[in-house]
Amino acid sequence: MEWFIGVCVSIIVLLISSWWFVMKKKKEKNGNKIPKGNSGWPLLGETLEFIASGYSSRPVIFMENRKSIYGNVFKTNILGSNVIISTDPEVNKVILQNQRNIFVPAYPKSIRELMGEHSILQLNGNMHKKLHSLIAVFLKSAQFKAQITKDIQHSVKQCLASWTNNTIYFQDEVKKITFTILIKVLMSIGPGEDLDLLKREFGEYIKGLICLPIKFPGTTLYKSLKAKERMMKMVRRIVEDRMKLIIDNNADRCAVNDVVDALLRDKSELYNSSSSSSLMVEMISQNIIEFMIPGEETLPTAMTLALKFLSDSPLALSKLMEENMELKKQKTNCSNEYTWTDYMSLTFTQNVISETLRMANIVNGIWRKAVKDVEIKGYLIPKDWCVMASLTSVHMDEKNYENPFKFDPWRWEKIGVVASNNCFTPFGSGHRLCPGLELSRLELSIFLHHLVTTYRWMAERDEIIYFPTVKMKKKLPIRVQPINTSLD
Ligand code: HEM
Repeated sequence: MEWFIGVCVSIIVLLISSWWFVMKKKKEKNGNKIPKGNSGWPLLGETLEFIASGYSSRPVIFMENRKSIYGNVFKTNILGSNVIISTDPEVNKVILQNQRNIFVPAYPKSIRELMGEHSILQLNGNMHKKLHSLIAVFLKSAQFKAQITKDIQHSVKQCLASWTNNTIYFQDEVKKITFTILIKVLMSIGPGEDLDLLKREFGEYIKGLICLPIKFPGTTLYKSLKAKERMMKMVRRIVEDRMKLIIDNNADRCAVNDVVDALLRDKSELYNSSSSSSLMVEMISQNIIEFMIPGEETLPTAMTLALKFLSDSPLALSKLMEENMELKKQKTNCSNEYTWTDYMSLTFTQNVISETLRMANIVNGIWRKAVKDVEIKGYLIPKDWCVMASLTSVHMDEKNYENPFKFDPWRWEKIGVVASNNCFTPFGSGHRLCPGLELSRLELSIFLHHLVTTYRWMAERDEIIYFPTVKMKKKLPIRVQPINTSLD
């Protein structure tokens, strides 16, 4: 018997030591594969250096410094998280394509508090795919673009007509255009009391996106959540009315005019889990408010930086004016209305837009969290670690773009904007590619056309700030002067 116990104990000891040895080896192997880097100070990590570079004129400096020591993919600790930063276009592609569903969005706690559980920005898997495609298909449709072109033209002309010879703050002015269009696209609300209320409450709501996650009366997060409740009340009413209209008139015969319509028209599995119509109203209303987050700040920033880059590049501005004046002349001579394809066929204008998006880096990086260990190009991203695909580093790397800090729209004559270009991803890529991509390019094209064929301007000196979001330090003050042409 004793010999039997002895054999059993030896086997157990052998098994435990082999397991320990294998785990040790695995840990050593994995340890070597985790990208190299520095975790900085306790608690603070390297957050201060990261923020300081955002306030400098060269925000990529944080990435460049670490890239030169540790390579294209490195680890750090910023904003309270261990994070692996990738400046490598191929690694970024794998993260954003997310073919094996390993990465989920990772937002700070305050942002997660403000989003509903069914928000497109937080959803994953099939529910996300379905919701994303409903919006993307609608925003891409030729019918939608034909209709929204008229609304954009109207809004742009109205805003430009209100400019006088006084100094205007360009960054604030363009927000008037883009917010009006965004609300029209989402729920067909035009100028008036409802739009004013949304503008006011949304301003309060987004203050909570970057704040301390503390929630009691008086705190920013609390006020922000209250503003969202007030917006929800109004949006809920709109969604309910629209739902009733669709039921009364038989859904298939009603036109799809906005995102509310597009979401209400879906009868498939998206809402199967919630047979009750009140839950459907709740989910749609929440999402309508959350679509405003990525749409509100990005586009006016792109317009503002386009003007800034053009003000500093007289050659590009003159070529842009020439191309747009030619279109204006054609349209005036044959008294035809502009179509969305007219704007999109202006080659140099499209190149100006691509170059603006490359240099502006409005979304500087995309954050994700790994739900299991994953190896990309030999780098290990451990489970539960955050990873940031840095778009700015790729856009400003001289390996990808010659003379990357120079505003050079002509470079796009050689490159062209192709979907497979891993080095140009201002709208992200993969399942979460921005559904507002084509709308944004169209709005930018219409805006630039009417701006450069109506006004000349003098911009005051101003600086771009990159943290926490991209904006102009002094809101880009300009003085405008109408151009006198026989075409008006
Ligand atoms: C120049 C303007 C814009 C830029 C640079 C931009 C950039 C981006 C980027 C990089 C993403 C991907 C985020 C990720 O992968 O997590 C994104 C997502 C998104 N964008 Fe845009 N965007 C712009 C305009 C707009 C507009 C005007 C709208 C609304 C009509 C919009 C709606 C969205 C939505 C709903 C998502 C989330 C998609 C999803 O997670 O499935 N964006 N945007």
